Amino acid sequence: MNSTHVEWLSDFEDDDLDDICAATEQAIKVGIGFDWIDPPPRDRIEAYWRGALLVPERDLLVGRYNGTLAGTAQMVRPAPNNEAGAHNVTLNSFFVAPWARGHGLARKMLDEFEKHARELGFRQISLDVRETQEGAIALYENAGFVRWGVKPNYALVEGTFIRGFFYTKDLGA
Ligand SMILES: CC(C)(COP(=O)(O)OP(=O)(O)OC[C@H]1O[C@@H](n2cnc3c(N)ncnc32)[C@H](O)[C@@H]1OP(=O)(O)O)[C@@H](O)C(=O)NCCC(=O)NCCS
Repeated sequence: MNSTHVEWLSDFEDDDLDDICAATEQAIKVGIGFDWIDPPPRDRIEAYWRGALLVPERDLLVGRYNGTLAGTAQMVRPAPNNEAGAHNVTLNSFFVAPWARGHGLARKMLDEFEKHARELGFRQISLDVRETQEGAIALYENAGFVRWGVKPNYALVEGTFIRGFFYTKDLGA
């Protein structure tokens, strides 16, 4: 039976680093991934992921499909000096590898992200997304995210500007 599982990762074990790099390359090739347009060399992707675990304000959520790491989301907490923005946490770098899509993994990751944000006392989740990411937009709006802004020249891909949509979800007091 197929299984999905989500967890917060503090270190890469076994095949995790290879799997997260492969998933990243595949996601870039089919259209979007971390604002790269073409997959960079593997060592740069590895450096990106090793670095993500080192940034004090970032927590890495991963999704596994049948045990293999297949999706990620990063929780970006406000910097210590940002007292005025201390209520808000940002969702970043959220994707599921193409081969693992359509099995509820992203929904499970988003639910866990929100649960963790509430546990940490945050009152709002913010994110932004290209207008072309219809699946992600449907997922966010069904989960209660509200679009509050549009940036016209959000991304420049092969000479064409793509709009970006900005969303927040209010977690209550
Ligand atoms: C968007 C994405 C994360 C969805 O991952 P997934 O694991 O296939 O999603 P799920 O199977 O958990 O589906 C979650 C919900 O989104 C909906 N959904 C997913 N893809 C969809 C699509 N292409 N069109 C419409 N709805 C879609 C599902 O119907 C589901 O709805 P439900 O929870 O009401 O049943 C994945 O397609 C992806 O990585 N896309 C490219 C990267 C991206 O756009 N990231 C967001 C950048 S901010």
